Amino acid sequence: AFNLRNRNFLKLLDFTPREIQYMIDLAIDLKKAKYGGYERKHLTGKNIALIFEKTSTRTRCAFEVAAFDQGAQVSYLGPSGSQIGHKESMKDTARVLGRMYDGIEYRGYGQEIVEELGAYAGVPVWNGLTNEFHPTQILADFMTMLEHGKGKRLDQIKFAYLGDARNNMGNSLMVGAAKMGMDIRLVAPKAFWPEEELVAQCRQIAEETGARIHLTEDVKEGVLGADFLYTDVWVSMGEAKEAWDQRVKLMTPYQVNMDVINATKNPDVKFMHCLPAFHNDETTMGKEVADKYGMKGLEVTEDVFESEHSIVFDEAENRMHTIKAVMVATLGD
Ligand code: CP
Ligand code: NVA
Repeated sequence: AFNLRNRNFLKLLDFTPREIQYMIDLAIDLKKAKYGGYERKHLTGKNIALIFEKTSTRTRCAFEVAAFDQGAQVSYLGPSGSQIGHKESMKDTARVLGRMYDGIEYRGYGQEIVEELGAYAGVPVWNGLTNEFHPTQILADFMTMLEHGKGKRLDQIKFAYLGDARNNMGNSLMVGAAKMGMDIRLVAPKAFWPEEELVAQCRQIAEETGARIHLTEDVKEGVLGADFLYTDVWVSMGEAKEAWDQRVKLMTPYQVNMDVINATKNPDVKFMHCLPAFHNDETTMGKEVADKYGMKGLEVTEDVFESEHSIVFDEAENRMHTIKAVMVATLGD
C-alpha cells in the first residue's frame, strides 16, 4: 500500500497513476459521504493558509469549504496585503508559515515559486494554479469524466482539448492523460502546442501506461470520436492584454461551437471547461473583448455552453470534492 501523508501536491508528474487514481476515488467517497450526511472529519484542529497571488472563485471556495467540512480553519492571503514577494522572499515566507500552519495552498506565477514554497515549508504545500500547471483542476476533470463516462475507466476515455494547449490546462491535461493511460488530442495552432520537452516526457510516460498523445492543427480530425471536448481561455491570468490581438485571430478556428460538437460524430459528447469562460458578453472583460473583436463567445459559444452537452458545473462542484481529497490524503489523520 502507499501513503500520501505529508506529501506536497505540486504537479501530477510527481505522482504515480495509482496515487492519482487513489485521490480521485477518495474524492468520490467524500462526495458520497457529504451527500449521504455521514462525512467524517479528518482535519479537525488543522490550520491552513491559502495564498492567492492571482484571483479565484472556484479554487479559493473549494479549499475553504473543503477545509470547513473537514474541521480545519483557513487564513486567506490575497494578491495584496501580505509581505509575500514585495518585502519577503518565498523561502522566508515558507519557513514562517510552516511554523504556524499545517498545510499551505499557493496560487500564483512560476511553478518554481510553489516548488520553493514546498521545499522550505516543512508542511504539505498544494498547487492551486501556476503559469505551468493546475493539478487540482485535473483531478476534478477526471472525476467528472468518470461520472459522465458511462462506466468507462480513464484508460478507455478519449478526449480533445482545443485552443491554448501551451497553458497550465493544456500542460496538465496532457500530463494527466499520459499518467492515466488516456487518449488525448491537443488541437491547437502549432505555436500553442505544449513545450517539446514536456511532450517528450509525456510520451515516455505514455509508453508505460498505454496513453495516446496526439497533437494536431486539424479540428475535424482531432475531435472525431471524442467522449469529451475541453477548452480554456485563450489568454490566461498574468498574460499581457495585448496577447488578445494575436490570439483571437489565431484561435478562432479552434472555438468550440455546434459545428465542432457535430464533428465529433458522437451525439453524447460532453463539453468541459475549467471556468471562468468567455461564452457571452455579460462580464466587463467579455464586453471589452466583444466590442473590440466583434465576437460574443470566444473559446466556446453560448449555445454549446448552455446545451445538454455541457457538464461544466458538475466539473466546478468536483473541484471541492477533489481538493478535499488532496488535503485529507496529505494531511488527514
Ligand atoms: N477553474 C479555476 O481554477 O477557477 P478559479 O480561477 O475561479 O479558481
Ligand atoms: N488558463 C487559465 C485557467 C484558469 C482556471 C488561467 O491560468 O487563467
